[in-house]
Amino acid sequence: MASTIEQELLKAVSKRRNFAIISHPDAGKTTLTEKLLLYGGAIHEAGAVKARGEQRKVTSDWMEMEKQRGISITSTVLQFAYDNYQINLLDTPGHQDFSEDTYRTLAAADNAVMLIDAAKGLEPQTRKLFEVCKLRSLPIFTFVNKMDRPGREPLELLDEIEQELGLKTFAVNYPVGMGDYFKGVYSRRKKAYHLFDRVAHGKGEVPEMVISDGDSSIENYLDGDLYEQTLEELELLEEVASDFDLEAIHAGKMTPVFFGSAMTNFGVRLFLDAFLEYALPPTPRNSSLGELEPTYPDFSGFVFKLQANMDARHRDRVAFVRVCTGKFEKDMSVNHARTGKTIRLSRPQKLFAQGRESIEEAYPGDVIGLNNPGMFAIGDTIYLGKKIEYDKIPSFSPELFAYLKNPNPSKFKQFQKGVQELQEEGAVQIMYSKDDFIRDPILAAVGQLQFEVVQHRLLNEYNVDSRLEPMPYGAARWVVDGWEALEKVGRLFNTMVVKDALDRPVLLFKNDWNINQVAADHPDLRLSAIAL
Ligand code: G4P
Repeated sequence: MASTIEQELLKAVSKRRNFAIISHPDAGKTTLTEKLLLYGGAIHEAGAVKARGEQRKVTSDWMEMEKQRGISITSTVLQFAYDNYQINLLDTPGHQDFSEDTYRTLAAADNAVMLIDAAKGLEPQTRKLFEVCKLRSLPIFTFVNKMDRPGREPLELLDEIEQELGLKTFAVNYPVGMGDYFKGVYSRRKKAYHLFDRVAHGKGEVPEMVISDGDSSIENYLDGDLYEQTLEELELLEEVASDFDLEAIHAGKMTPVFFGSAMTNFGVRLFLDAFLEYALPPTPRNSSLGELEPTYPDFSGFVFKLQANMDARHRDRVAFVRVCTGKFEKDMSVNHARTGKTIRLSRPQKLFAQGRESIEEAYPGDVIGLNNPGMFAIGDTIYLGKKIEYDKIPSFSPELFAYLKNPNPSKFKQFQKGVQELQEEGAVQIMYSKDDFIRDPILAAVGQLQFEVVQHRLLNEYNVDSRLEPMPYGAARWVVDGWEALEKVGRLFNTMVVKDALDRPVLLFKNDWNINQVAADHPDLRLSAIAL
């Protein structure tokens, strides 16, 4: 017989679903997020969340960016209720602010939604994020967006996902027409056509008509040979496609695919309904105590993101914690695994749109924002009861590298302290030249914004100036077997050898071509784009 707390947790977990959206800039992530909120009843009119046009004009001024960013930066998690479920959308920032946070947010997610622009198919940022999902075997739900515009053939897009990502696909719905002739979708689950009307910019929920298989009235609504053509493609799909396999979906081996248009709302509700049915509830997590079920009665969670100065007026810092087990309650005192200290969590926050709400309690699968008085680092575990440490969040290959110079030697100490603390916190990766006479730290980042954040914070929090000297590299690979393995292969060309913060050897390359060349010349040298 489960205890009361276990029963409470079981109930909360069964009703929770969380996910992050992975996509390339411009695929429509903001638009889809907005429409999910609209259908979830969290907003009443699309377009209220942020002024997209304005956002686009924003330059690289980080503080300005935050102010203008609306949901994509100030809301690390959007929680809304729909159909008896609590849905947590872990927002990964898009566009210019692609950073390690984008990868790390996936560490907190239990499901991923892969958003693809129908005209473009798979794009670079999506592929990179997919690799991270694959590492964790996350279930991936694909939404092929912008069907209201001329795009690639649906069957060709399915094939691209299968061939290039090695994922089986199951089209849960299939588009009826495309571009100006996009009328709706055929639901292979419900064996019915869902036809939609276009309303201006999809501000409100879209009118939807459902016509079941075998009802000949469908022909009245589809012009010319659109009906015949759709039937033909569906037949073809039935012949070549794999069967629906929920286990494979949960194991991240098959992706259910949905076609639609976030802008016009076509297919958004169908997607949300099916997602809730197939997505995984909060999953067990690996820890020093083994795999912990979310119903483990003592509270625990880990920090997956830190954000500084979110609000210019308060200049505070927030640590985002994914709740993994037990129940979180406001004012709780918890243990901090890395330092052994006890912390009282007095001002927990839930973030929604521009405002912040305080929260009283949270359950596994939820994310809480904690005021961070400089105590937390990425990957830290907080817990009650027996000591728990969750698996570390891996580091991912940075793509931008620059020496960070200190123009004022008299401030050497502050400079060092700032660099070290920002590195420990996970704001940026720091590497050093293998040659000890070059002492300048190398900032290694996934996105340009990380550099700006570091310089901004060094100035504001440590009162030191800094200068960036960009380096001509675009990728890093960790040498899996360490320094000895590297020495064995002798001199390497077209790469720079550096060490990371843990003194592990890392090779910097200009491009993939150079990586492949080194890999081909030295097949025994094991290289990895991810450091665990
Ligand atoms: P992102 O967050 O992934 O970067 O993409 P975002 O939602 O900002 O969308 C990028 C552009 O694509 C926007 O156009 C948006 O309106 C458009 N878009 C999103 N979903 C759809 C869709 O289903 N169909 C069509 N046709 N367009 C879509 P924009 O012109 O850059 O901005 P706006 O002036 O429309 O706001």
